[in-house]
Amino acid sequence: MAETILTGIRPTGNLHLGHYSSAIRLLLDIQEKGDYDNFYVMIADTQALTDNAKNVDKVKNSVVQVAIDLLSAGLDPKKATIFIQSEVPELFEMTGYFMNLVTLSRLKRNPTIKEEIKQRGYETSLPVGFLTYPISQAADILLFSPTIIPAGDDQAPMIEQAREIAHSFNTQYAPIFKMPKGMIPESKVVARLPGLDGKLKMSKSLGNCIYLYEDEAAVKQKIMNAYTDPSHIKVSDPGKVEGNTVFAYLDAFCKPEHFEKYLPEYKSLDELKAHYRRGGLGDVKVKLFLNNIINEILTPIRAKRKELENNIDDIYKMLFENGKKMRKIADKKIAEMHDAIGINYQKFLNK
Ligand code: TRP
Repeated sequence: MAETILTGIRPTGNLHLGHYSSAIRLLLDIQEKGDYDNFYVMIADTQALTDNAKNVDKVKNSVVQVAIDLLSAGLDPKKATIFIQSEVPELFEMTGYFMNLVTLSRLKRNPTIKEEIKQRGYETSLPVGFLTYPISQAADILLFSPTIIPAGDDQAPMIEQAREIAHSFNTQYAPIFKMPKGMIPESKVVARLPGLDGKLKMSKSLGNCIYLYEDEAAVKQKIMNAYTDPSHIKVSDPGKVEGNTVFAYLDAFCKPEHFEKYLPEYKSLDELKAHYRRGGLGDVKVKLFLNNIINEILTPIRAKRKELENNIDDIYKMLFENGKKMRKIADKKIAEMHDAIGINYQKFLNK
């Protein structure tokens, strides 16, 4: 069956290896397979503003940066429609109608929102727009009739809630929504890359990221300082692979051919890990190996980025064009929605 694929990404900073490992690789894989009719990638600026009302600069400057990050990583503007959320105001209209179908207690039960409210310390200062963003995300998901939503595992509750809203609407008014399915990466390593400091997640706010735009020297320095196993002091000491950032990155990015190219004394990651566990393998050697692999990934991305940065206007123009195209699709769905609810007053005219 021909699929329509839609995903969203919040513009709150440049994209890093964590995004590459989870989201971007998944999108490139989809693009390469080409098994779809439409492939929409939304830069979710209005969603980013729900917890950044006072940081508009950060959000607005990140929009084009995220577009550059995506394109330089290999997203092809001929194969994927990248657009800006705020260019499609119909999303707000749909959100408004959906708000009548969701209870406050249901919203507060969404596990992702619960966690995010805690992280942000919003106990007594929770913006209404933030609490309700799962409803606006349901509109993102339902306005353009996608069948598949690629996203990280933390987005599963959002997709679930969108399906619930679609179901409520379909039964209350008329069945105009198809049920989209999530496409969540399976492997835990791929889904969540740890930070350079060993913390659970690579995240801008923790300052433990390798950004796609960073140059070779900066990346090497970060890798050489990455958290490994603090009790692996001498080369001869046995080392732990679990919780070791460098090995987590190797799990995410190392392929068998990397050994042939950069570390021919070993045949596989298992062999390398076994030696590290036994003792006799130093961190520096493993880190230099990792650095070669990461550099191999980032070199073409950096080159493409240079090219794109000379044509920022073209990127904006593409985003605007795409926004118009998405609005046309949105207009039709909103009309269908008015019809379903019964508020299409044109029909009341006697001619
Ligand atoms: N909430 C998503 C995130 O934080 C971004 C997003 C916005 C999204 N709208 C979407 C993801 C629609 C999938 C579908 O990463």
